[in-house]
Amino acid sequence: MKTSLIAIPLISVLAAAPAYADFAINIGAINVAPDDSSSSLNVIEQVAGLPNGSTALAVNSNTQLGLTFDYRIKPNWAVQLIAATPFSHDISVKGSAIDGLKVGKTKHLPPTLLAQYHFMPESQTFDPFVGIGVNYTVFFDEQVDGQLEGALDALSVTGANDVVSLKLKSSFGLALQAGVNVKLSDTLGLHLMLSKMDIDTTGRVQVNGNTVQSVNVSIDPYVAMIGLRWTL
Ligand code: NI
Repeated sequence: MKTSLIAIPLISVLAAAPAYADFAINIGAINVAPDDSSSSLNVIEQVAGLPNGSTALAVNSNTQLGLTFDYRIKPNWAVQLIAATPFSHDISVKGSAIDGLKVGKTKHLPPTLLAQYHFMPESQTFDPFVGIGVNYTVFFDEQVDGQLEGALDALSVTGANDVVSLKLKSSFGLALQAGVNVKLSDTLGLHLMLSKMDIDTTGRVQVNGNTVQSVNVSIDPYVAMIGLRWTL
């Protein structure tokens, strides 16, 4: 999915007069499961004598502690901010004779702001909703795996004194969401949601700070959360 900017519904909701307000905190497990695809590692394919286009990068899934904040500004409309402890993902090669080769790992934080439409705000039990918003993902603490370093050495791309590093570009994109809040009492409940986020990045393998391989990666994950909901 290419990044498209649909911030207008969000802004119009934020600009609406808060005639009605309640605030809720959701806390629980949040999982990021990449629905990933990438361009091939063309330079490494060439150096290693692998078929053109036979490789891609794969990103594994990860679960963290999710913390989301809901601010109901109208009976049918709420704004949600998604936060979490940093996600950690392993990155490896998919395809060809080097399938499974570990490239490295990265951490990221994907703060997301959504406008939610609630279908049955008066319901005493089930409060289903859909949301649309924007996601900003910052990657940090990228680390190269020894397997990639060994492969680059074996291919004579690097020598003993070369420093290999990995860099991932931050991403800004659309987020879609559906979910339900379940009321257990006036203040306690459950929060379940599934989001699809457009997260696209460029991964760069660098030797002594110079990029030797650049790969465009669409991570486009499903983000699922199940948590306890506390309404203030
Ligand atoms: Ni995308």
